[in-house]
This record gives sequence, C-alpha cells and structure tokens, in this order.
Amino acid sequence: MGKNILIITGSPREKGNSNTLAESFRSGAAESGNEVKVFDAHKNRIGFYSAPVLLSEDDNPEAQELHRLLCWADVLVLATPVYFMGVTAGLKTVMDRLSPYATSDGKKCFHVEECYLIATATSADPHMFEAVCMEYDYLMTKLGIKHTSKLLVGGVADEGAVFDRHDALERAILMGYSVGKIGGVY
Ligand SMILES: Cc1cc2nc3c(=O)[nH]c(=O)nc-3n(C[C@H](O)[C@H](O)[C@H](O)COP(=O)(O)O)c2cc1C
Repeated sequence: MGKNILIITGSPREKGNSNTLAESFRSGAAESGNEVKVFDAHKNRIGFYSAPVLLSEDDNPEAQELHRLLCWADVLVLATPVYFMGVTAGLKTVMDRLSPYATSDGKKCFHVEECYLIATATSADPHMFEAVCMEYDYLMTKLGIKHTSKLLVGGVADEGAVFDRHDALERAILMGYSVGKIGGVY
C-alpha cells in the first residue's frame, strides 16, 4: 500500500535547485503509488517556537494546515538550500516547531517513521553540508525516526543549475520511487 508523503520545502526560489530535486522525488514517489503533498515553508509562514505546544494550538491557518499534514504523513522530506551552513529560516522554524511532536501528546497523532533530507549548496565541498546534517540527524533522534537518508548536492548556485545534474535528479527520482519498498530507505 502507498504511503502518505509530506515534502516540506524551505527555498524562496520556486524553481530553485532544492525545489527541483523535491519535485523529482515527488514524481518518483507518485509513480510508485504513494500520495504526496507539499508544504512550502517559505511562503506559508508559521510562527516561531515559543512554547511546547502543537501547531494545532496556533490561530494561524498555515500552522493549522501544517499540523494536519504532519498527522497525515507516514514519510517526511525536508528540502532546503544551505544558507550560511544551515537550513533556511522557513525550514528551521518548522524543525523547531516539530519538537512537541516528540512528546507523548504529539505522538498521539505524529507517526512518521521515515525521513529524507534534500540539500543544495553553491560550494562543491562536502563539508559545507556538515552543520545541516548534524541538525537533521539530531532532529531525527529526538523524533525517534530511524529510517532516514540524505541527498546532498553541492556545486549548484544559480536557479535551475541542478537541471544539468542528471545524477542528482535521477537519485531524487529513485529515492522517491523507493519509499515504502522492500529494502528500506534508498
Ligand atoms: C543567504 C544565502 C546564504 C547562502 N549560504 C551558502 C553557504 O553557506 N554555502 C554554500 O555553498 N552556498 C550558500 N548559498 C548558496 C545556495 O545554497 C545555493 O545557491 C543553492 O543551490 C540554492 O538553492 P535553491 O535554488 O533551492 O534556493 C547561500 C545563498 C544564500 C541566498
């Protein structure tokens, strides 16, 4: 049976590199029978973390929508450009707000068991992704998500540069396609 996949994007560039890889992941995942929804964390502004409450407690409709999606999802995908070695502010806000979903209250609805990180950077130096990976790995530990994988694509600066990176686009499609398949996370 197909999985419910929620992709959360953090780039301000609609047709940017991380969003393009996220779209490739989406197409692969949809092709293999999963249902995929996308939440744009740059456009849809939820409030910063200020207390250990679920997003459903906020008045903001974007926060309410994200709460519904988080409770619907079996699989999460976090897609972001690297900004000063970190994730974008939009995605960081979502990551902070995920913290209450690790509590017993949050676990009543949050049941994600598989997660993917997609990140892009101008630098081709793999060290450029270290801080993002550490933050992501720690979030996975906190949320108790054991099945995770990463697609880190350096050397892409301009919007659309990743279209020349057929290796990365194919990997994103395959990652999406392999969700929920025997053999685990791609
Ligand atoms: C504010 C800002 C900070 C950035 N910081 C870094 C960085 O620390 N290292 C790097 O290699 N690229 C950095 N970049 C470049 C982006 O990570 C790169 O262009 C990426 O491919 C953009 O992805 P997008 O098209 O999905 O937005 C930065 C770009 C911006 C706008």
